[in-house]
Amino acid sequence: MKIQIAPSILSADFARLADALASIESSADLVHLDVMDGHFVPNITIGAPVIAALRKVTNLPFDCHLMISEPQKFIPAFLDAGANMISVHAESDRHLHRALALIRDGGAKAGVAINPATPTESLADVIAYCDFILVMSVNPGFGGQKFIRPVIEKVRRVRELLERNGLGIPIEIDGGIDATTAGEVVAAGASILVAGNAVFGSGVPAANIEKIRQAAVVLN
Ligand code: DX5
Ligand code: ZN
Repeated sequence: MKIQIAPSILSADFARLADALASIESSADLVHLDVMDGHFVPNITIGAPVIAALRKVTNLPFDCHLMISEPQKFIPAFLDAGANMISVHAESDRHLHRALALIRDGGAKAGVAINPATPTESLADVIAYCDFILVMSVNPGFGGQKFIRPVIEKVRRVRELLERNGLGIPIEIDGGIDATTAGEVVAAGASILVAGNAVFGSGVPAANIEKIRQAAVVLN
C-alpha cells in the first residue's frame, strides 16, 4: 500500500499556520488536523473556523482527527470547513455507525480511531463502514509524547482483522512517529503516518518528512 505522510500541525507555530502549510505543500501527502475539546482529552486546540481558514491556503487534503465528546454534533461543521477525511474515537461515540454514515454522506472518508488501551476487537463490528482506521500510539492530547511500543503488535492485529474481513483499507498511526519508529509500524501494516514533533519540532519540515519516508521505505 502507498505510504502517506500526514504532518500534524499541532507542533507547528500556531501564529504562522499558513507558513507551516506552505513548508510541507510539496512533500506531505495529507495534513493532519488535531481537534481537541478539553473534555474528551485534557487539551484544547482548534475547531472548524480555523480549518476553514486554512482550507484557503493549501491544496493538500485535510485529515481531521476529532478528539472531542459528542462528535456527531460537530461533524457537519468539519465537512463544511473542507475536511477530506474525518476520524472519530470509538471511546467518544456510542453510535459509531451513525457518525460514520454522517461523514460518508457528507463526501469525506470516514475513520474510527482507537486509543492505546482500547482493544482491537472493539473495531470488529464497524470496520465494514470505515474508509480507514486510526491507531493511536500515544494517549491523545499532546504532541511530542513517547511512542507506546506494544501498539506495533496492535497494528498487526488490526491488519489481520481487516484481512480476515477482506478489507484493504489503510491503517493510520498517530503518536511518536519519527524516522526511528516509521519502519516498524509500516512493516506491521500501517500506511498513513502522522508526525507532529518529528516534522515541525526542529529543522526543515520538508527534509524531516523525507527522512520519515525513507525510513518507512527501508523496512517496507
Ligand atoms: C496527539 C495527536 C497527534 C499528535 C502527534 O493527541 O493526535 O496527532 O499531534 O504528535 P507527535 O508526532 O509529536 O507525537
Ligand atoms: Zn492526531
